[in-house]
Parts: sequence; C-alpha cells; structure tokens
Amino acid sequence: MTDTNKTTNQQWGGRFSEPVDAFVARFTASVEFDQRMAKQDIQGSIAHATMLAKVGVLTEDERDQIILGLTEIEQEIARGEFEWSVELEDVHMNIEARLTQKIGITGKKLHTGRSRNDQVATDIRLYMRDEIDFLLEEVTRLQQGILSLAERNTDTIMPGFTHLQTAQPVTFGHHLMAWYEMAQRDYERLADCRKRVNILPLGAAALAGTTYPIDRNMTADLLGFERPTYNSLDSVSDRDFAIEFTAAASITMMHLSRWAEELVMWTSAQFNFIFLPDRFCTGSSIMPQKKNPDVPELVRGKTGRVYGHLIGLLTLMKSQCLAYNKDNQEDKEPLFDTVDTLRGSLRAFADMIPAIEARGEYMYEAARRGFSTATDLADYLVRKGVAFRDAHEIVGKAVGFGVQEGRDLSEMSLEELQGFGDMIEQDVFEVLTLEGSVAARDHIGGTAPAQVKAAIERAKTELAAR
Ligand code: ARG
Repeated sequence: MTDTNKTTNQQWGGRFSEPVDAFVARFTASVEFDQRMAKQDIQGSIAHATMLAKVGVLTEDERDQIILGLTEIEQEIARGEFEWSVELEDVHMNIEARLTQKIGITGKKLHTGRSRNDQVATDIRLYMRDEIDFLLEEVTRLQQGILSLAERNTDTIMPGFTHLQTAQPVTFGHHLMAWYEMAQRDYERLADCRKRVNILPLGAAALAGTTYPIDRNMTADLLGFERPTYNSLDSVSDRDFAIEFTAAASITMMHLSRWAEELVMWTSAQFNFIFLPDRFCTGSSIMPQKKNPDVPELVRGKTGRVYGHLIGLLTLMKSQCLAYNKDNQEDKEPLFDTVDTLRGSLRAFADMIPAIEARGEYMYEAARRGFSTATDLADYLVRKGVAFRDAHEIVGKAVGFGVQEGRDLSEMSLEELQGFGDMIEQDVFEVLTLEGSVAARDHIGGTAPAQVKAAIERAKTELAAR
C-alpha cells in the first residue's frame, strides 16, 4: 500500500482547496477490506460498460478497451501484482484509477451514469450471491454427512433426553435426523435470503437515478440478477439482505453450537457415546491422557461472534435516514467475518460428522440404566384398563423401588412388578425392552427404526432434487 502525507484524491478532489489529512484518508478508506470484492467490482463494471455501449453512451471501441483493461486488471489482482493504494480509498477507485493508467482517458468514461453508491451495493450483492451459492453446497454436504452417519445407526439405541435426564430410549439415527431437519431449515433460509440478494441496484446512481438512457434490465440480465430494484433511494441505502444473511447465519451457527455441545458431552469419558477421530481433536501440553474435542468447542465459541455481527449490522442501520450514508461502509467487515466463520464451521462439521463412530454398547447401557422404559410400562397399564394418572403413580413407585435396589424395571421379577399392580402379566417384559420401546413408536416422525429408515429415504430424495 502506498500512503503519502499530502494527497488530493484525483476522482473527487476537484472542489477541495487542501489535501485530505493523511490520517483521515486512512480512517475513511475501506480498500484494506473491500478489495475482497475486486472480482465482483470488475464483473459489475464490465456489465455496466457493455450496457452503456448498447445504449450509445460509449462507443463499441471504448467498451472493448474498457473490458480488455478490466480483464487484465483482474489477472493482475489474481497474480498478486496489483498495487492497492489507501490514497485511492476503496476497491472501486483503485480499479478505476488503474484502468485509466492503462487505457487513458477512456478509463475515465466508465463511471458515466453510475456512482460508487450503486456500485458498492451491486458488488456486495454479487459477492453475497457467490458466497451463498457456496454455503448452500456446504449445507448440502453437511446434510449428506449426517445422513451417512444416521444410515449406519438406524437401530442403535441410546437414551433420549429431556432436561438432560434420561427420558425415553431413541435410536441414534433418529437423533441425527433431528439434526438433518435443522440443517434443512438452514438451507431453506439461505436459499430464501438469496432471492432478495439477487436484485440489481446499479442504475440508482448516487441516489436519484441518472440522466443517461440506461437499460437496467440489460445490466440485470448480464449479471444474472432477477430484476433491477424499483426505487433508487432504497437501492443505495438498503442493507436488509446483509442483516438477513447474518440472521440466517446466526441460526445456523446456533444449530452447530448445539450439536457441538452434544459432541463434547458424548466424547467425554462419562458418556463415551461416540468416537471422534484423532484428526479432529488435539492434546494437552500438560496432561498426557487428554484428547480434546477442539473442533466442536471452537465452533461453539465462534457462534458468539456471528451473533455479535448480527447485532452490529442491525445497529449500523438503525435510524439511518435515506439514502446512502458513509456508515454503510461498515457493513463489510461483519459480513465478511460472518461468511468466513460460517464457511469454516460448516466445513469442519461436514468433514467431521460422517467420520464419527457410535459406541452403541455404551449408549445402550446408558439407556438401560435410566428407567427409560417407564413410560412404556405406564402405557402398558393403560392398555390393561388402568387410568393414565393411576398408571403414572404405579410406575413411579416401581421406579422408586428400582432406584433403591439399583435395578432397572426390566431387571425386576414378575412378582416384584405385580406388587405394584396386580394387572401386570408376563407380557410386560416385551414393553420393558429398549428394542420394544423404540419399535412401538412407529408413526411419521417417530423413533422406530422403520420410521428412521423412511426419514432417511425421504431426505435422500430431497437432496437428489437439488
Ligand atoms: N467505500 C464505500 C462503501 O463501502 C463506497 C461508496 C462510497 N460512496 C461515497 N459517496 N463516499 O460504502
């Protein structure tokens, strides 16, 4: 970066009688972070020049010079040869200045009929669209990973929890398909957000539109946007899509943090429900026995910064009068960090989840220990004619006895059980088994292995249609 003490910006310095203060130039510059949108800036400029030539504002020769120059600049940037300058403030003016340096006066014609206000709004939308498309693929990859682990565990029995207390047995596959449903909503939210991202603000110019005979439908088509925006003031000031994206990202991170929490618990010696391959863990520099689930922990932690960005962006836009205000330059860093954090977190989970191995024996043991078939016994009593509240009471007493004795319901003798309710018969043991308990919940959305298999098939069809 070049940075001198005295500088008058060539692009807008005309009315200024002294150079801008060197600190102010640095303070107001955005090039250090908005250069990330260079590719989109060039893409937008090429479409703009093409449209200007079509409506006769530029000659075909001027258009060709501009496009050639911009294409070369794109390559310079890709090769890391482009020299970014803080004096030139932002990505837009850096690229335009370089274009003029390369092709002369024609470069100065590119900015006809537009402003950086509609230019930056266009760049961010193009950038967001690219990122959302990539993120949608990552969410799909994550869902496939969940499915592959679920498929191997349709019959694996584990305790289901409420209040983190053993509640009823479920299959591990069923638990994983709950994750799948969460990820499915994440996918839908992102895809929905993309619809409102994919609208073209270019043509709004500074705020009121432009006097040139521009063809905004053409520019929209060239850039793959659904349509042009319908109000120039709104076009340059709207950042709803950035807030929406960060909100969708926050919900996805919230989901990842919940799964992370479960993975952290399940890998602990106290649960020992799963095996997380070593490549997703790290050790301790002091305790030789340690294998820490750093990846889930870090994702859980990173959720906080994304929430922070959401509140940051909402607050950035709060009370802003129309139309563009320099405040809006502050949208980029939170947005970029949200993208990076979500990309990294999704990648880590999409790689890690299919590599997890369930420790079915430990899950089974835990389910057996927690009186998880107590509800099944109550339902059994109801089928024998007992009112549910009375059945609840009877089973409660049996559980109390089991707690004292250190025995599960299925480990009691028929005589012992009959001591709590004389309607209990030999067939009670069928409902007291974990297998019988899960298999009995055999309806759409239930935990029966047959239903989990059906859910997996449904999900596969859903993913195949993408
Ligand atoms: N760097 C600015 C931004 O990110 C570009 C638009 C500046 N427009 C202006 N009139 N100063 O918002």
